[in-house]
Amino acid sequence: MLEHLSELMHLIARWVHLIAGIMWIGNSMLFNWLDRNLERAADARPGLVGNIWMVHSGGFYEVEKKSLEPSQMPATLHWFKWQNGITWLSGISLLILVFYMAAASTMVDPEVADISANTAVLISAASLPLAYLAYDLSWRTAIGKRPTLATLLTIAVVVAASAVYFTYFSGRAAYVHVGVLIGTLMTGNVWFVIVPSQRELIAATLEGREQDPAIGYQAKQRSIHNNYFTFPLLFIMLSGHFPSTFSHPQGWLILTVLALGSAGIRHLMNIRFTTPLWLFPAVTLFFLTGFFALLMMANRDLLGSDLPARTTPVPFGEVADIIHRRCTSCHSVTPTDNVYRSPPNGLVFDTSDQIVRKAEDIKLRAVVQKTMPLANLTGITPEERAALGAWVDQGAQGPAKGEVKP
Ligand code: HEC
Repeated sequence: MLEHLSELMHLIARWVHLIAGIMWIGNSMLFNWLDRNLERAADARPGLVGNIWMVHSGGFYEVEKKSLEPSQMPATLHWFKWQNGITWLSGISLLILVFYMAAASTMVDPEVADISANTAVLISAASLPLAYLAYDLSWRTAIGKRPTLATLLTIAVVVAASAVYFTYFSGRAAYVHVGVLIGTLMTGNVWFVIVPSQRELIAATLEGREQDPAIGYQAKQRSIHNNYFTFPLLFIMLSGHFPSTFSHPQGWLILTVLALGSAGIRHLMNIRFTTPLWLFPAVTLFFLTGFFALLMMANRDLLGSDLPARTTPVPFGEVADIIHRRCTSCHSVTPTDNVYRSPPNGLVFDTSDQIVRKAEDIKLRAVVQKTMPLANLTGITPEERAALGAWVDQGAQGPAKGEVKP
């Protein structure tokens, strides 16, 4: 009953997170696009910044961007802040459900750092407000008047926090935390800088005065930051599906390449109307090649290099024994693990057929990437990993005639 409740909460949080996230990022992309494509009207009416015509879903839309006289303030004004608010709140709920509540297996990796689950949660929870504070101060104080310096400081804040994550957390948790951090900076920007600036704009309009330009300028700056944060953030949120990235010994380097590369693509999309189009594929290709080069280097280094050599034949019985001692506490229809009450990803190793069918996956996760057993909770040895790898290389045979099926 309890585990179903927890799965239900998990499902709802993830679903809400995805929907709110699509709405938030989608809106933000649309407004960015609008701003870049506005046409300056020929009949320069007072207050008109620009306008644009669009066709979408069965109608023409004309949008005008303008400043208003106090008397023109509309009765209903639509805000776009809750998409962000809900994305962040559901994201934090997921952080708690997926990571904090199972920190011993999802955040701690004894091969990275032997810390307690509570320490891991503490590091995570403290890092987010601290990093936002450091980032916010670098733009709010006098330093913010020197954008290059402030930009370098911003990168330093993200890198420093990431270094902490990669020092103390499992690869997967470190990746997700960099994402949570970026998402938190973006959310702070919305609620502490951009929304207050919009309130001030409305107040200034109602009072018939100019908006304080400093406030508007800051909001624009933060909105540009959020624009560049988007693509790295979205990759990180998907990274859980790509164990070769986060389980890479230089996982932080891969993340850096992908983050800078994707922010660079965002930049090209921003300037594409003023820049030669060929830059697009060129830069994309450049960073993807770099990324795959890193991955390939990793796979060559990882394959067996740090495992004891196993050259003798590995009978299936030995494999089944390893799997049952090291894997089926989770990967079984009746798991005994305290956290995983149903088999993770539906993967089950209860019968010899199930083991043989998943031979390649077993090698990938337990031998090449070493991301299984999760946090090595079941204490698999290097010799056992080598035996699993050798068994797969030798053809992943099932039980021989007469051998007892597990
Ligand atoms: C403590 C629980 C636990 C143990 C023990 C464990 N796993 Fe996993 N396993 C998981 C979780 C959780 C996932 C899903 C998350 C992921 O893919 O990292 C998973 C996913 C996998 C996947 C990917 C499945 C897919 O469809 O993507 C493979 C393969 C795998 N485990 C193999 C193993 C092997 C082999 C062992 C033993 C050497 C093992 N696991 C031990 C928890 C565990």
